[in-house]
Amino acid sequence: MIRSKIAGMGFYVPANVVSNDELSKRVNTTDEWIKERTGISERRFFVPEEDTNFGMGVKAATIALDKAGLTPQDIDLIVYATLSPDYYFPGSGVLLQRAMPFRNIAAIDLRAQCSGFIYGLSVADQFIRSGMYKNILLVGAEIHSTGLDFSDAGRHVAVIFGDGAGAAVLSAIDTDAEKPEGILSTHLHSNGEFAEQLAIIYPASAKLDKFDSKNMEAGGGYFPVMNGSFVFKHAVTYMPEVVMEALNANGYTPADIDCLVPHQANARITAVVREKMGIAEEKVISNIHKYGNTTAASIPIAMCEALEQGKIKKGDLVCLTSFGSGFTWASALIRWV
Ligand code: COA
Repeated sequence: MIRSKIAGMGFYVPANVVSNDELSKRVNTTDEWIKERTGISERRFFVPEEDTNFGMGVKAATIALDKAGLTPQDIDLIVYATLSPDYYFPGSGVLLQRAMPFRNIAAIDLRAQCSGFIYGLSVADQFIRSGMYKNILLVGAEIHSTGLDFSDAGRHVAVIFGDGAGAAVLSAIDTDAEKPEGILSTHLHSNGEFAEQLAIIYPASAKLDKFDSKNMEAGGGYFPVMNGSFVFKHAVTYMPEVVMEALNANGYTPADIDCLVPHQANARITAVVREKMGIAEEKVISNIHKYGNTTAASIPIAMCEALEQGKIKKGDLVCLTSFGSGFTWASALIRWV
């Protein structure tokens, strides 16, 4: 039976560390407020001369390929998840394709915000299961720092987000149908009813003034808006639900999970999810204190650190889960090989 495994992972975060105190010089906030409400101590903001969205993707992808023992020539497809692409079009996937010695393979840009990595994992997994491709590069990368509203109106959003990139190489494996290994299943959901509860509206193709510079200067529509408590309530409902969906689909219970890697949205969201599911704290990965919320990059960055720290090992049952703008939410269950 053909299944896919994660053969290698890598991440890159800009060297520029912005502590809460540093951020307080630009935003009317305090270290105490941010830590108490979100668990974040610092985040990375990119340095314009040094990084771009796809450039960070290249750095993460280079490490992931190296860990997988593959070269760009071995890759059959690029899946690139981001909500902050380098250009309005074309997508960042082709910029990454140009920057490394790939063949003329397809590059799919995927827009599922905080669920981008798991959605991308699912897309890559289906291509491998079908037998169409053998090795796929999945990247999640974001530059938030250039698009945040540092005024009082946007301070609840500005303190949350950070920049960074993560990458995974998925490869085909032949696994026992009775005791499958690798990616066991993925579960994807959306509900567009609440699209504007967490969104950046401009540039909007149906608005005549989509590139109006006055509108841009005023910030209207170009900055992220977020109904924080509304997002919070939905996240703590849907993340446990979609984890249970993955466990039920494979005949497992929360007690079987060796490592839960939730999207790093807010340390309080992670704590509620963990408590609701009765999973021990040491089995749940949390690194939001160092990087903030890096959207599509948050899960691969957290997985890389978990791997480095030995919290994900061969044979482990690893569960990924996300919730974010869309709303979108998702889970993946992996028997690590
Ligand atoms: N620093 C200081 N005070 C701030 C602030 C900041 N950065 N941001 C907001 N405040 C103030 C508000 O002005 C408000 O003051 P008031 O009571 O005098 O009116 C008060 O703090 C509460 O604001 P509110 O926006 O209601 O805060 P909250 O308790 O909902 O916390 C979040 C805000 C964003 C931390 C919280 O809603 C959250 O984490 N939501 C989930 C968001 C998320 O995870 N998004 C990503 C999903 S992928």
